[in-house]
Amino acid sequence: MKLLLLGNGGREHALAWKIAQSDRIEKLFIAPGNAGTASVGQNVPIATTDFDTLATFVENEGIEMIVVGPEAPLVEGVYDFFKTHPTLSHIPVIGPSKAGAVLEGSKDFAKAFMVRHGIPTAAYATFDGTQLSEAKAFLHTLSAPYVLKADGLCAGKGVIIAETLAEAESELEEMLGGRFGEASARVVIEEFMTGIECSVFAITDGTDYQLLPEAKDYKRIGEGDTGLNTGGMGSVSPVPFATEAWKARVEREIVRPTVDGLRAEGIDYKGFIFFGLINTAEGPKVIEYNCRMGDPETETVMLRLKSDLVDLFEGVAEGNLSERKVVFDERSAVCVMLVSGGYPGNYRKGLPIVLPKVEDSVVFHAGTKNEGDNIVTDGGRVIAVSSYGATAREALAQSMQGAEQIDFEGKYFRRDIGLDIL
Ligand code: AMP
Ligand code: GLY
Repeated sequence: MKLLLLGNGGREHALAWKIAQSDRIEKLFIAPGNAGTASVGQNVPIATTDFDTLATFVENEGIEMIVVGPEAPLVEGVYDFFKTHPTLSHIPVIGPSKAGAVLEGSKDFAKAFMVRHGIPTAAYATFDGTQLSEAKAFLHTLSAPYVLKADGLCAGKGVIIAETLAEAESELEEMLGGRFGEASARVVIEEFMTGIECSVFAITDGTDYQLLPEAKDYKRIGEGDTGLNTGGMGSVSPVPFATEAWKARVEREIVRPTVDGLRAEGIDYKGFIFFGLINTAEGPKVIEYNCRMGDPETETVMLRLKSDLVDLFEGVAEGNLSERKVVFDERSAVCVMLVSGGYPGNYRKGLPIVLPKVEDSVVFHAGTKNEGDNIVTDGGRVIAVSSYGATAREALAQSMQGAEQIDFEGKYFRRDIGLDIL
């Protein structure tokens, strides 16, 4: 099969690495890809949201399946574009329709969906700019800390946790006043939940689903989960509290009602669902949905997925996913992200990367590109080093060994990924 994967991050290198291992793959293209995906397939310089140019490429190359990595093309309707295309509607797109991607694209929609289907989540209310006094009155009914979320996509920056009522009120005014533009024209205010977070992933054909290995990501820049939020500094899989019994509960109370709810509402959803969960004293609850895999979770999830990923994609496309087998590797996997100095603030790009062959780890590129004969930095998150271990501690030690061998000016990484949940 000729398969086209959309995206250019660490998640896409990990997906491409796994897809390329399938004996069903004749040719793998990645648009636009990065210096790492170029080592397992062929990069194509087309933006993920340039649907017309992608369609021309798909037609000319005889692409037989499209797999979507990031949310932007999904939210913009890449599934619907191909499904309604005059000559390419038969090509399966692995990823939800635009209506399904709203689960990630609108926090208000996601919350209302969970309420409609009895899926456990924090109590909430949504307000627009005309409802400032009602919104403040609602804040007064809650206790600290206060959680404010821009309704729309804000590249991971749209969630504010305010420690005091005064701070929450001023944040609220700024958000409704247009801090995130159209994305914060509406603000979701919700109850604060306490617990450990866990990312659970399912792939669905719209009727049935299969769970993939779960993972935990580390969002803060500093060790001990301190400092600014980032796109993710590393991940670990499995998550020890995610026992078989816990996962069975998550399936019963969250995953199955989500898949059934989407179908009942006539929403076409064939692809990954990412459940951002928090394990509260009352049990697992949903913090958020994403319509794609997580990054850097994919960089450990793909290590632990033994089954052929392309076989699962075919199950999605053919509507017989329940007949496919998903087998997990029993070992632990830990991913350590090497980031640019200054990230998540300002950082330099174009710095040469010293990239020796790293034994016993899988090196995924995130923000890298080829420049002449060199590979140079091209983003805040640069390289994800993933390794197996009999335990998370062993996997971490292995990934750190790899992280030490790779070098670029200003390189920084956390040395505590996975240690808090041992
Ligand atoms: P989100 O973009 O919705 O995933 O939110 C970003 C982060 O904010 C989450 O990963 C949590 O750490 C935190 N968060 C969001 N909502 C809540 C909540 N209701 N209670 C506690 N923490 C939250
Ligand atoms: N690691 C969290 C995310 O991909 O949104």
